Amino acid sequence: MNKIKSPDELLKLQENIRASRDPNKPCVTICAGTGCLAYGTQKLIDNFKAEIERRNLTGTVDVRTSGCHGFVNEVL
Ligand code: FES
Repeated sequence: MNKIKSPDELLKLQENIRASRDPNKPCVTICAGTGCLAYGTQKLIDNFKAEIERRNLTGTVDVRTSGCHGFVNEVL
């Protein structure tokens, strides 16, 4: 992947990613940031993928990992 050098290049990358995805295909995104990995998210990711395979859903559901989503304020 090339380094993004301008806002226009970032927008172009965003457009390309959107164009490459099927909007009707479910996609589960699981955080694989440092904090979540420390809490065991890799096991969740592995189990999710295994369950999709077990249910013969491979290719019909995407599982993606992301970086940290940042701090989340919990409303009590
Ligand atoms: S590491 Fe997962 S939300 Fe921050």
